[in-house]
Amino acid sequence: MSFYVTTPIYYVNSSPHLGHAYTTIAADVMTRFQRLMGNDAFYLTGTDEHGSKIAEAAAEAGEDPQAFTDRISQLFRDLLPLLGVENDFFIRTTDAPHKSFVQAVATKMHEQGDIYQDTYSGWYCTGCERYFADDELLEGNVCPIHKRPVEHMEETNWFFKLTAYKERLLAHFHANPTWIQPKSKYNEALALIDQLDDLSISRSSITWGIDVPWDDQQVFYVWLDALFNYASALSYAREGEDLTEKFWPPTVQVLAKDILKFHTVYWPAFLMAVGLELPETMLIHGYLTVGGDKMGKSMGNALDPFPLIEAHGPDPLRFYLLREVQFGQDGAVSQEGFARRYDGELANDLGNLVSRTAAMLVKYRGDDEGVALVPEVPSSVEVATNANIMIEQWRGQMHALDLSGALETVWSFVRDLNKHVETRAPWKLAKDEGSALLLETTLGELVEGLCAVAYTLSPVMPATTTKIAGTFGVTADELASWSWGLAHGRPVTKPQPLFPRLEVASHS
Ligand code: MSP
Repeated sequence: MSFYVTTPIYYVNSSPHLGHAYTTIAADVMTRFQRLMGNDAFYLTGTDEHGSKIAEAAAEAGEDPQAFTDRISQLFRDLLPLLGVENDFFIRTTDAPHKSFVQAVATKMHEQGDIYQDTYSGWYCTGCERYFADDELLEGNVCPIHKRPVEHMEETNWFFKLTAYKERLLAHFHANPTWIQPKSKYNEALALIDQLDDLSISRSSITWGIDVPWDDQQVFYVWLDALFNYASALSYAREGEDLTEKFWPPTVQVLAKDILKFHTVYWPAFLMAVGLELPETMLIHGYLTVGGDKMGKSMGNALDPFPLIEAHGPDPLRFYLLREVQFGQDGAVSQEGFARRYDGELANDLGNLVSRTAAMLVKYRGDDEGVALVPEVPSSVEVATNANIMIEQWRGQMHALDLSGALETVWSFVRDLNKHVETRAPWKLAKDEGSALLLETTLGELVEGLCAVAYTLSPVMPATTTKIAGTFGVTADELASWSWGLAHGRPVTKPQPLFPRLEVASHS
């Protein structure tokens, strides 16, 4: 099966922050999960580089727009490996093949009568890159999102006959009641269709954009340009190959609720107009918040990811974001919150259990060299049954894109394994010769159980889970086809701590 996942392409008016990283990580986890399931997955992310917002930011920085977008786009690209993200392609809307693609689809729309010329006057917010109706604005004609005055604009533009797609959109929504998740966002999007107007898809007031081929006075509206990235990328991501046939339509498009309307009303209508199949699932998540507000460029450093990544690699941050914020809802993030999860769950619940298990194996079963072999444990033991139940449940939740639920399922099993150690108390069993078999079984259960945990956590913490498996003599490749008994007979030595204690005082 093939699986195509996308993130929004991020505006290059400012540097990346943790909010962008969140979407990118979530989509990476979904992609890695699909690969783990043996599916062929393609993961796209990139940058959105045209429009007045970017042109203004470039002017403010005193740079030429192309040089400016080259520079900021690179920051987004450089962040990916730091976050442990394995994307298959990084698209920039300033790529020549993307520009030709947009011109080709728009020409098709124009030729088939979906595009006409008209004059529009209204209130425009450059931050949002959209017009607002009078009643959507705050007192004094202020944008409700950017809290900045909007501009009154009057332009003769090209318009897309969005209203002509109303019935087809409604039909699609009714036939596919789960295509937007969660349900509340589906309902919101459906309500938007009732108030459709035709959409201006070009601008005469700016030059930083893709030229309208049939009108040399205009460039395309940035959202028409940007949305088609999801389709254009497949046509040129691999030289000499068109991946459209293989991966289109997107299996899941991940985004936050700020850009719901563009993705669930305009985007499907554009696709209908050009005859491309609609995405299977639009997955809408909430905001990372700081002090109750959406994290944005000015607040991006409230939780600075770079020192965390430098100190611990990307895995603890990936874990923290997905574990702390209920996927689909808003969630506050902070340095203190990170420290709590790190110490409580990663270092204590998981890291400690791995080192205790390996240390006990070596202590009670090791040879003169300090090497112990993982004992064999039949798959009839309760821990094995529970591990398999846990994996079934986790798999179902991951398929359903319930990232938070899936992590909770795994964690509940981690907590059970910790209880198992306390109940069995191997240190007591070790004192009694008659309990040798139970000691061996217990240690084996812990190893196999921890390998099951590593298997399920591998999409979230790929490097860490490779280390866990390695502690028990199992390679990452072997772990990918985990079954009970995988570690049997493998050599174990005393491990290094997985999650060294944090040296941040703020959580004490
Ligand atoms: N360029 C458009 C998207 C075009 S897609 C065809 C855009 N860019 S953006 O830089 O503003 O990125 C918005 C996206 O970044 C959100 O939809 C979300 O995926 C991510 N996030 C930005 N800030 C975020 C939070 N504070 N919290 C969660 N996600 C955040 O819109």
